[in-house]
Amino acid sequence: MKAVIFDLDGVITDTAEYHYLAWKSLADELDLPFDKEFNEKLKGVSRMESLELILSLGDAAYSDEEKNALAEKKNDLYKEMIQKVTPADLLPGIEALLKELQEAGIGIALASASKNAPFILDRLGVTHYFNHVVDVNLIKQGKPDPEIFLTGAAKLGVLPEDCVGIEDAEAGIESILSAGMYAVGVGNPAQMQKADLIVSSTAELSLSLLKENFKQKTK
Ligand code: G6P
Ligand code: MG
Repeated sequence: MKAVIFDLDGVITDTAEYHYLAWKSLADELDLPFDKEFNEKLKGVSRMESLELILSLGDAAYSDEEKNALAEKKNDLYKEMIQKVTPADLLPGIEALLKELQEAGIGIALASASKNAPFILDRLGVTHYFNHVVDVNLIKQGKPDPEIFLTGAAKLGVLPEDCVGIEDAEAGIESILSAGMYAVGVGNPAQMQKADLIVSSTAELSLSLLKENFKQKTK
């Protein structure tokens, strides 16, 4: 195990909830029946793709201009919410894990589909742990395509098979697995069936847990 590549929303901090609340507010305004269950489909999915999925809940047609305005409206609301993020919003065990990985000389990268990711890492005070933050503006294929995780590995100069990816969403787990990496899922096992290892909380994550399970799999 030479590197660990993290998703952000739902793994490092619970901004997944803010994404949900911001989309919910937009959906309510448009009178669309959007709920938590449907929201699962949006995790790890880009802003515009998420909007398309939400709009498919109704039958109104929107021009590209209207869609851009709606996506911007959601993002403005989301940006307002994340101004309040502080280091206290790191999910349990994450900073300890980042520290352990850094001390062990294991590469650390971020593979988030969010254009707000660098801002959030700064607000959380953890940017300095990351050897690389994948620039999502340069990624052509979103999750479940492996491109974002493969880019993370390439930037760290390690082979995909030497990497662990950590995700909280189905599209993300698929992205990790199709990159040929070891997939760790955090959260509800129902959404993470294909993961190599599932933990119910980030508090369970540690360098030794990752190393042990990674070794078992590659033996
Ligand atoms: C992450 C989240 C998604 C979000 C996407 C884009 O993948 O899991 O819910 O839609 O990032 O985020 P952005 O901040 O660029 O709108
Ligand atoms: Mg996520």
